[in-house]
Amino acid sequence: MIILWIANISFSQLFFAPMKLAYKVFEPVNGSNTRLSPLIFLHGIALSKEYWGNIPQIIANNTGRKAYVPDTRNHGESFWSEEFNDQLLMEDLFCFMDDIKAPKAVLIGHSMGGFIACKATLTAVRNS
Ligand SMILES: *[C@@H]1O[C@H](CO)[C@@H](O)[C@H](O)[C@H]1NC(C)=O
Ligand SMILES: *[C@@H]1O[C@H](CO)[C@@H](O)[C@H](O)[C@H]1NC(C)=O
Repeated sequence: MIILWIANISFSQLFFAPMKLAYKVFEPVNGSNTRLSPLIFLHGIALSKEYWGNIPQIIANNTGRKAYVPDTRNHGESFWSEEFNDQLLMEDLFCFMDDIKAPKAVLIGHSMGGFIACKATLTAVRNS
């Protein structure tokens, strides 16, 4: 079920590179339709990417969209920072979307994740 696993690499900290979020990827059973934007699942506060269980795989299977499930900063296996606010969580999401080369995505969030999804969507609409 877990096809790719990229853990945060502390090495990048030495060079002040932007910190990467840890995440899982779920490939649809019949392959992803590359014309469709991916799904990104955002967990709630004090939770992690494990929260979603096999829901991303079910939706990936049935929509042909690739599903990405990151840990936000200070959660799960992502990096820890003293700076933690909604603006940074949104920026982390936009950096993550750049990294996975997804100019657009379907955002699905629970609790804090839902808030980040709404804030990111409204910000992207405002800037477009
Ligand atoms: C997705 O499809 C694969 C292949 O049919 C299947 O093994 C897997 O159980 C499906 N995943 C879920 C969560 O339904
Ligand atoms: C995947 O493809 C198989 C074979 O064509 C089909 O039977 C199955 O229903 C497909 N699964 C999904 C989730 O679309």
